[in-house]
Amino acid sequence: MPNPASGFQGDPVALEFRGVGKSFGALAALEAIDLAIQKGERHGLIGANGAGKTTLFGIAAGALSQSAGEVRFLGQDLAGKRPFERVRMGMRRTFQSSNIVHELSVRDNVALSAVGITPARHSLGTAALKKARSQADDLLARVQLEARAGDLARELSHGEMRQLEIACALTGTPRLLLLDEPAAGLSVAERKRLRTVLAELDAGLTMVMIEHDMEFTMSVVSRVTLLHNGRIVTQGTSEEMARDPSVRAVYLGRQHDSGKHPQN
Ligand SMILES: Nc1ncnc2c1ncn2[C@@H]1O[C@H](COP(=O)(O)OP(=O)(O)OP(=O)(O)O)[C@@H](O)[C@H]1O
Ligand SMILES: [Mg+2]
Repeated sequence: MPNPASGFQGDPVALEFRGVGKSFGALAALEAIDLAIQKGERHGLIGANGAGKTTLFGIAAGALSQSAGEVRFLGQDLAGKRPFERVRMGMRRTFQSSNIVHELSVRDNVALSAVGITPARHSLGTAALKKARSQADDLLARVQLEARAGDLARELSHGEMRQLEIACALTGTPRLLLLDEPAAGLSVAERKRLRTVLAELDAGLTMVMIEHDMEFTMSVVSRVTLLHNGRIVTQGTSEEMARDPSVRAVYLGRQHDSGKHPQN
């Protein structure tokens, strides 16, 4: 018998949206979204400003409640699951705008994230903090930031800040990473480094990445979904999508838009 708490043993789907809709007053930000992300898949979510990408992440993470439909994670319906419960199930998220504590060290930002998701966070002792810092050092090595562990977070470059956010998201036992525009504002060299960091993460980790840089997206993910005005327009492998005229139109449109991108 499959254990309903852990999902079907052989269930290949990590995250699934079934008929998901979201209205903000009269605005339909998302409509009838059907999307299944396989376990271990690297999936890109693309689309023009206001397409509904971040809203979809907010619904998956439980920060927003959907107006219609359901979301399933590792075989479980997420209805009624609060954001921290989803985190403990292994769903981790980075944001379009940074949520790093600038006056803490790089190491302590990751340690804080590690202790923040443990049930015993209100009764932590020195040993637990030491353990969290040691876990932080391991994660900083995974994102190529170990040399900056003792520095204040505010001293990091923009690219290093993004690497730190990923280290924070890897605390606990992540099964799914939702990355909202991780490469936004990065230099060419920083993008290259981020691409390596992402490529070297555990192959079993499922990842959904919102990104506006087409080249970066295609080099990280194997499948892509294009959203437009709250609906899925098309979906396919990175190669298929790179040739798709509707995808090209979105990116050509953005070239006229550069510099006006809101940081929400
Ligand atoms: N909390 C909110 N209240 C009202 N409207 C909202 C809210 N959040 C998002 N919206 C609206 O929903 C639509 C989708 O927004 P969303 O942030 O999901 O877009 P996005 O695809 O992430 O865009 P971007 O590329 O600019 O980040 C937009 O029209 C936005 O103005
Ligand atoms: Mg967004």
